[in-house]
Amino acid sequence: MTRLPSLLLAFFSFFVFAASQATGAGREVQTSDFGKTSEGVSVHRYVLTNNKGAEAVVINYGATLVSLKVPDRNGKTADVVLGYDTLEGYELGKSYFGATIGRYGNRIARGEFSLDGTVFHLPRNDGPNSLHGGMRGFNKRVWAAVARSRADAQVLELSYTSPDGEEGYPGTVKAKVTYTLPAETNELRIDYSATTDKDTVINLTNHSYFNLSGDASKEIVGHELLLRAPQFTPVDATLIPTGELRAVRGTPFDFTKPTAIGARINQDDEQLKFGRGYDHNWVLEKPAETGLQLVAEVFEPTSGRLLEVLTTEPGIQFYSGNFLDGTAKGKGGQLYARRTGFCLETQHFPDSPNHPNFPSTVLKPGESYRTSTVLRFSTRK
Ligand code: BGC
Repeated sequence: MTRLPSLLLAFFSFFVFAASQATGAGREVQTSDFGKTSEGVSVHRYVLTNNKGAEAVVINYGATLVSLKVPDRNGKTADVVLGYDTLEGYELGKSYFGATIGRYGNRIARGEFSLDGTVFHLPRNDGPNSLHGGMRGFNKRVWAAVARSRADAQVLELSYTSPDGEEGYPGTVKAKVTYTLPAETNELRIDYSATTDKDTVINLTNHSYFNLSGDASKEIVGHELLLRAPQFTPVDATLIPTGELRAVRGTPFDFTKPTAIGARINQDDEQLKFGRGYDHNWVLEKPAETGLQLVAEVFEPTSGRLLEVLTTEPGIQFYSGNFLDGTAKGKGGQLYARRTGFCLETQHFPDSPNHPNFPSTVLKPGESYRTSTVLRFSTRK
């Protein structure tokens, strides 16, 4: 190559690079160390950014969302999810902050279910029941991560192979969770997929605790919640669904119009007592068309932040952080007190393997499990 064309090429490459930096297109996810697990396995921290002021940080321990920064109505950015500063926090933590939950989101009664005539036994890690995949669910596993950013979005794909029999569940399950942050929209998309080599059950979700004020020293009771859900699944005293689908109308579970989380939370209601507040699955209204549906909206009046949740799932667990008790030392040394974060876990219903009337969570060889959830952020006056 002569000198002139190579100089031209250098100039051209520089302009393409500069343009891509300016638009955010083609920028790759930033990776750094996040320490070693107690077993000596290295964990990394992945930072996804866009052109609208949003930043999502994910670690490959538990495929966990550790931080999510979005602007308020004045353009001031703050972290709106709870979490820890250190890997040790996530290893020892019991609250599932930001984690990917698997193999089974929420409870399975008495840690037992039968499939194809065989009874499977799971660890009972929540009173008499099995919760969030057992003693060491997907939230306590190291996932393989690979950045797959496109011109219009930063993308992180995480994979984990769960061996046959892990935590009592049948089949080798290959699970994938993909976080996508578009360059020009403040929304985080989470896509889940899985396959199995034996009949099994699966229910993956993300367990982020939100505080849209950006200040986790404040309770979330003033957030206004809307749930497009005409029914919920009442529970027994151990938080296992009774099997009934109950109309929300006329109960403190009616969020079909925006209502402050705290407006009815302390009412004298048996279901609220069982959960010590809200800790229930809502049955989402399903329009005729399939695909992502807008199912929940949460507005925080002081910051103006609005979170809209879209999902392909039939249910959502709304948990008002009732079991946070100020002992978890979170980011920046913050002790997370009761009701300083809420979860909206898009999912199939808890204990579905023991309720034939609930949408099925069975996955068979040759089938592919696929669900998606989008967390969309904006602001209002
Ligand atoms: C459950 C709560 C539980 C929380 C943290 C939620 O999904 O429904 O009962 O305390 O997760 O483990």
